[in-house]
Parts: sequence; C-alpha cells; structure tokens
Amino acid sequence: MTERYDADDASRTGRADEPAEPQDPSSTWGLERVVQGGADELERAAESALRPRSLSDFVGQPVVRDQLSLVLQAALARGGPPDHVLLSGPPGLGKTTLAMIIAAELGVSLRVTSGPAIQHAGDLAAVLSSLAEGEVLFIDEIHRLARPAEELLYVAMEDFRVDIIVGKGAGASAIPLSLPRFTAVGATTRAGLLPAPLRDRFGFTGHLDFYDAADLERVLTRSARLLGTDLHPAAAAEIASRSRGTPRIANRLLRRVRDWADVRGDGTLDLDAAQAALAVYEVDDRGLDRLDRAVLRALCLRFGGGPVGLTTLAVTVGEEPETVETVAEPFLVREGLIARSPRGRVATAAAWVHLGLTPSESGSSAVDLSGTTRL
Ligand SMILES: Nc1ncnc2c1ncn2[C@@H]1O[C@H](COP(=O)(O)OP(=O)(O)OP(=O)(O)O)[C@@H](O)[C@H]1O
Ligand SMILES: [Mg+2]
Repeated sequence: MTERYDADDASRTGRADEPAEPQDPSSTWGLERVVQGGADELERAAESALRPRSLSDFVGQPVVRDQLSLVLQAALARGGPPDHVLLSGPPGLGKTTLAMIIAAELGVSLRVTSGPAIQHAGDLAAVLSSLAEGEVLFIDEIHRLARPAEELLYVAMEDFRVDIIVGKGAGASAIPLSLPRFTAVGATTRAGLLPAPLRDRFGFTGHLDFYDAADLERVLTRSARLLGTDLHPAAAAEIASRSRGTPRIANRLLRRVRDWADVRGDGTLDLDAAQAALAVYEVDDRGLDRLDRAVLRALCLRFGGGPVGLTTLAVTVGEEPETVETVAEPFLVREGLIARSPRGRVATAAAWVHLGLTPSESGSSAVDLSGTTRL
C-alpha cells in the first residue's frame, strides 16, 4: 500500500505503489508528447535524480516556499508535527517534490500512497495504524479517495484516531484506535473536487502556480549541472520559453536537447542545439506542439475562428473530444490563443498572429482581440 522513504535517502526510485497516471489521452499523438504536463512511470524514475531535496534548493514559488518554511520551522521549534499540508496545482509543478522536501526538512520518513490506491476505508486504516510518530503521510491525487476512506481520514487528521468497525448490522461496534501524531500531505491537481470538510482539515494549503521564464532557466541550469552538462544561458532561455511554465516539461526538453547535442551536434548545449532539437520535436517558440497547432489551424482555417463546438473541433483534428479538452485546450486558453464562449471555442487575435495568418484570409472577421465573438 505504501512505501517508506528515509528523508535523507537520495536514491528513491521505487514507486510501485503509486498508480499509473490517469489514462493519457494524448496517446494517438505518439507515445511521448513532449510538452504534456504529466509523466509516465519511467520518466518519474528519471525525474527523481533531478528533484530538489531541500526548500532552499527548490526553485521559484517564493510565496509557497516562504509560507511552508514558516510552518516547518515553527513545528521544529515546538518539537511537534506541523499542520497538515495540502498542495494543489497543475501537473509537473513540484507537488510531489515539496512533499518529499517537507519530510526531509522535518527529518522524518515519508510514506507514500494515493487516492486511487486506496480502494476501501480498511486500506487507509491499515496505512494509518502503521505510521510512526511524526511521520509524513503523502496522499497523492487525494481528490480521488473513495468516500468512506475520506470520512475515515477526517477523523484521523483531526483526532488522530480511527474507528475500527467490528461486526455487521445492528451488532456492529466501533473500536477506537488511537494513532501517532502524523502529518498528512495531500496533493491534488483538482483542488475544486475536494469536499470542503476535507479541505478544511488542512491547516496550510499551498497553491503552486506556473513558473516564469527566469525561474525555469534556474531549474534548467540546476538540472544541467546535475546531469553533468554545460547548458549555455541562451539555450536555457530558449528551452525555458517553450516549457509552458512547467519544470517537468523544461527538464524533459533539456533531455531532448542533450540527446540532439550528443547525437547530431558536438555535445554542446548551445542555442543552435536547443533550436534544432526543439524543431525535431515540433515544439514551437511558444511551447505549442503539433496537436496544439492542429487545433488552432482547424479553428482558424476550417471554422473562420469559430465559435465551434468541442466535438466538431476534435473530429476535425482526428482526436477524441476529451484529448482536445484536457491535453491541448488548457494551455491554449491560458496562453490567450483560444477562448471559450457559450457557443463554442473561439480563436483569439493572438491565435491568428501565432499561425502567421490574418482573420480575413479565411473570409471571417468575427474575432476580436479579447477573443469574444462579435455578433
Ligand atoms: N521548484 C522546482 N525546482 C526544481 N525542479 C523542480 C521544481 N518543481 C518541480 N521540479 C522538477 O519537476 C519534476 C516534476 O515535479 P513533481 O513530480 O514534484 O510534480 P507534481 O506537481 O507532483 O506533478 P504531478 O501532478 O504530475 O504528480 C521533478 O522531477 C522535479 O525535478
Ligand atoms: Mg506528483
């Protein structure tokens, strides 16, 4: 159910207990979509070598880092466990990394489990009752916990107790079992799905935001150093600008650039290598890949900028609606290239500019700068 890691164990590799990522809907675009925020099992293993191990090593996110540092320092000074911590934010921004850092900073070991791995309340009761005093229990994808387990967790987090139900029906009785004081660290990409009672039991919530280019450059420079390569500043800037504000994507692109430099270049990670490698992987200067551009092109050229329904748009690019909605659209909306309107998806002026088109080319001028349709 869970694995135990010592805080100072830098060789953490096994993650067998963690469930596979939710089915990757981008699969028809090739096994590896180089700019997706999520990661598969193999990549997660590769990532562990690049994870910062302490708060001071954790790049960016100054607000969360500062707040968390206070929570942890206060707990250390008091000699007890800190409040339970909830970390929310899109994939690849550092939630798992921070959970591991929390345990490391507290000098305790980390137990890892996840919402989908806990099928029954009893599974969670078993995990909780095997915790040692002060340990950190990391519950990844906590929004996917089953309801009975969730209810058990409420009591465990608040009163450090689980009620073991013995027997069935009218004869059933609850035997309270007290738990050691532990710290729950929950991670979720969907904080909105957490029921309020669960959310309220976390004394501290850290929301991770996308990273700016300067922070991503620092992530890249640090990763290159750990990989034993010399990344030129111009190459770092180039990769950072195409990484969608996400350290995981930055690290992945760095590995692809290193591949290119080793195989087709002279091993130097300079601007030329970065541009050539990213051209091979069809990641453009804003971090859009083939699927993103196909969606934009369909929207602009086939539908005159929209509005067009999600299903129609998906069929046009030969994809499932879910793929377009969960894989391409969030970034396109965030970048201001697509807007959602009650009548469907609309290309913004920026989308036309990005494709090197003008709205009039398709005979439509129904899109204005704000991305809303003029009726
Ligand atoms: N602030 C950071 N500084 C340096 N590297 C980072 C930072 N945040 C994340 N990374 C790197 O990005 C990778 C992904 O981070 P992590 O696994 O913590 O993301 P996550 O938020 O847990 O994603 P998911 O929601 O998919 O589980 C890690 O390997 C780590 O090396
Ligand atoms: Mg994670």
